[in-house]
Amino acid sequence: MKPRFPIWTMCGYLDSHGELYFIEALENGAWTAIGDATVKPENPPIAIWRGDYLGRGIGRRAMQAVIARLRQRGCEKITGSTVYKWNQASLHMHQNLGFRIVGETEREYYLELDLSQSRN
Ligand SMILES: CC(C)(COP(=O)(O)OP(=O)(O)OC[C@H]1O[C@@H](n2cnc3c(N)ncnc32)[C@H](O)[C@@H]1OP(=O)(O)O)[C@@H](O)C(=O)NCCC(=O)NCCS
Repeated sequence: MKPRFPIWTMCGYLDSHGELYFIEALENGAWTAIGDATVKPENPPIAIWRGDYLGRGIGRRAMQAVIARLRQRGCEKITGSTVYKWNQASLHMHQNLGFRIVGETEREYYLELDLSQSRN
């Protein structure tokens, strides 16, 4: 059987390229990891892992926290955010937070957010 991609490999990569945070939800009195987000000025990644938490405003609030942290660190622009064209949730989330499309390929959009303009 082919070995599965170890999640700690991905987490190690993200943590060494930015500040990796887990997004947690309180379930039956215990905090449970339901996603991750990494604070970095180029293409900050975010993912909600559990389907039952999608579309509940968590991604938007987590990305707002990423933006606030980058602003606190003195970052003036988020660049290179890459969103597949089919990924309407991610595209809406980015655009509603002020990201602008600055380029595209057949499959994906590239977005940027000017932190000196946006107030999210
Ligand atoms: C992208 C992602 C982080 C968004 O998180 P979420 O918690 O599901 O999204 P939210 O509930 O915060 O919604 C954000 C916006 O997108 C809209 N939206 C959410 N799901 C949508 C969908 N399936 N289609 C279209 N719009 C959608 C919401 O209406 C909301 O708009 P608003 O700010 O005007 O209210 C989440 O879908 C995810 O983890 N997807 C898998 C990994 C991924 O694609 N990561 C991003 C890679 S670029």
